[in-house]
Amino acid sequence: MTWLITGASGEIGTRLAAEFAAHGIALRLLDRRPPAAGPPAGAEFVQADLRDQDAAEKAAAGISALIHLAGVTHEGPFAEMVEHNITATHHILEAARRQQVPRVVLASSHHVTGMNPTGGPPEKAPLAPDSFYAVSKTAMEALGHLYAHKGNMEVVAVRIGSYRTHPSEPRHRATWLSPRDATTLLYAAATQPLPSPFLTVYATSGNTERWWPRTGWDTLGYQSADNAGQHPDPGPLTDRFTGGSFADHQLPT
Ligand SMILES: NC(=O)c1ccc[n+]([C@@H]2O[C@H](COP(=O)([O-])OP(=O)(O)OC[C@H]3O[C@@H](n4cnc5c(N)ncnc54)[C@H](O)[C@@H]3O)[C@@H](O)[C@H]2O)c1
Repeated sequence: MTWLITGASGEIGTRLAAEFAAHGIALRLLDRRPPAAGPPAGAEFVQADLRDQDAAEKAAAGISALIHLAGVTHEGPFAEMVEHNITATHHILEAARRQQVPRVVLASSHHVTGMNPTGGPPEKAPLAPDSFYAVSKTAMEALGHLYAHKGNMEVVAVRIGSYRTHPSEPRHRATWLSPRDATTLLYAAATQPLPSPFLTVYATSGNTERWWPRTGWDTLGYQSADNAGQHPDPGPLTDRFTGGSFADHQLPT
């Protein structure tokens, strides 16, 4: 029973791989760049670019769960988002379908609803992408929904908030996701039974201030250990939109 983590040399993937490996989970780690400190003991590392369909398929062979973190994580030209976030996601989902991987976790983003104003009711967060990056994550979720219903797999799209060691900006009072809560939530997303093949869930810590519904937390049995409200107040909120600076940027050319 081996799990595949893509984007494993990135910020979230590095820590997640270390923690899962420490808990005895057999891991195959994929990234287009090697991990800075090497892979954790016992883990297999595959250097590959998911724009290559064949590489995606080889990586998915014999896998029991896939956590897809790979992608471009900043705003950029539309073509870059299409290649790394949409085409690469299509490749890994198609590989998972062909290799009969039963559970896939997709790293989506809170930016898919980032053009909603701050201060709105937390139960209402309609789709409102704030950037080309967010449009690519919206497409990722749509692909996940399609493959969950036609690809014979279960898919959890995790709308990650702000993954940081500590909350450091005013908006983090609502958006913060601590590293240990990220590990808890992503583990649950890879393992917990689902009532239907596709689930979308916001990933934040149990922050007192909240902007988004906690739909899915009970389904996954997610219990947060952290709360931004217990950290020093980072000052008054000036963001107009929940996507923060992403929502304020001009479109890149
Ligand atoms: N960090 C956050 O606060 C946050 C918030 C919302 C969503 N997310 C999402 O979570 C995921 C992980 O975030 P992170 O902060 O660890 O990002 P990161 O940039 O640190 O890591 C992403 C990794 O993906 C790899 N990658 C990119 N394109 C690739 C490709 N075509 N093939 C193979 N590997 C490729 C990169 O080399 C990198 O190591 C991303 O998909 C990101 O969009 C993160």
